[in-house]
Amino acid sequence: MYLPAEDRYKTMRYNRVGRSGLKLPAISLGLWHNFGGVDTLENARAMIHRAFDLGITHFDLANNYGPPPGSAEENFGRILAQDLRSYRDELIISSKAGYYMWPGPYGEWGSRKYLVASCDQSLKRMGLEYVDIFYSHRPDPETPLEETMGALDYIVRSGRALYVGISSYNPDQTRQAAEILQSLGTPCLIHQPSYNMFNRWVEFGLLDVLAEKGVGCIAFSPLAQGMLTDRYLNEIPGDSRAGKPYGFLRPEHVTEEKLAIVRQLNEIARARGQTMAQMAIAWVLRHPGMTSALIGASRVKQVEDAVDALNRLDFSTEELEQIERILAGE
Ligand SMILES: NC(=O)c1ccc[n+]([C@@H]2O[C@H](COP(=O)([O-])OP(=O)(O)OC[C@H]3O[C@@H](n4cnc5c(N)ncnc54)[C@H](OP(=O)(O)O)[C@@H]3O)[C@@H](O)[C@H]2O)c1
Repeated sequence: MYLPAEDRYKTMRYNRVGRSGLKLPAISLGLWHNFGGVDTLENARAMIHRAFDLGITHFDLANNYGPPPGSAEENFGRILAQDLRSYRDELIISSKAGYYMWPGPYGEWGSRKYLVASCDQSLKRMGLEYVDIFYSHRPDPETPLEETMGALDYIVRSGRALYVGISSYNPDQTRQAAEILQSLGTPCLIHQPSYNMFNRWVEFGLLDVLAEKGVGCIAFSPLAQGMLTDRYLNEIPGDSRAGKPYGFLRPEHVTEEKLAIVRQLNEIARARGQTMAQMAIAWVLRHPGMTSALIGASRVKQVEDAVDALNRLDFSTEELEQIERILAGE
């Protein structure tokens, strides 16, 4: 039987999410890869146990995580039922709807029909009465924003979720979404954008809108799916995301150009007494408005490595300038 570590709240940092009453751990764990039907349930279980033991209270899912789609939620439901049921009130569990889930016109995007049906399916797969955060996974160019935000408001009012968020909405869409949700009385808790040293779009307007509207920010893929680690420095290992047949990171994404940058960054990390992954996480968390770094992991050691990033979050001006120069290819 799993018994969580008694000292699980000793070292983790918890950051307030925007202007809400909720706090999230500085490191959160996402179940996009390595928790699906194609993966080993015992490894998934070990990573979730270790994460919770280290104070990671937030687990992020979506309807389509797997493969096959839905299987990460099913596996998480199994682990919850077996090991974590009595700790439900210590957990923040999120799910999302937006990407393709079932055939026909109601199986993806942002209609009220899809979001409510998908939320019900997610709850069933995880064996939950409610999720803590429910997201619109991506903006829908066809559905009026009022309808998508109205569906999120309804999902909260009907008891299916406690809070709502949006993912990958651009700054203008985010401002409008936050204003609509505000007018409905269900504030937008959090935005989930991609953010890492190779992908910095949030720095061009989004972070300002979030600060202005009091919305939190949780950065997904802070390690660029593993490229900002020591994983690919010498080769593409067969057990890595790029090496496996069903990962979203493909070998052609791991370019020599990127690796040359990572090798230089790795030297700075070493000088800081950190792994490359730890420095990449600390770099994402350097923004005051950044609530959490949402990592993925394929083994327990990576979860531990990520949490140890919290031992050294500060950067000197020289380090930041050096990183900028390397990223600019100078
Ligand atoms: N909202 C959205 O649209 C969206 C999109 C994508 C992701 N997300 C969320 O963000 C979460 C994280 O995404 P991600 O998995 O791409 O994040 P990531 O943290 O950038 O990449 C995780 C991968 O990096 C490698 N890794 C992790 N720690 C390592 C370490 N210490 N040393 C060496 N390698 C390490 C592992 O790859 P190996 O398998 O190679 O070991 C791991 O699977 C997802 O699970 C999901 O919850 C959301």
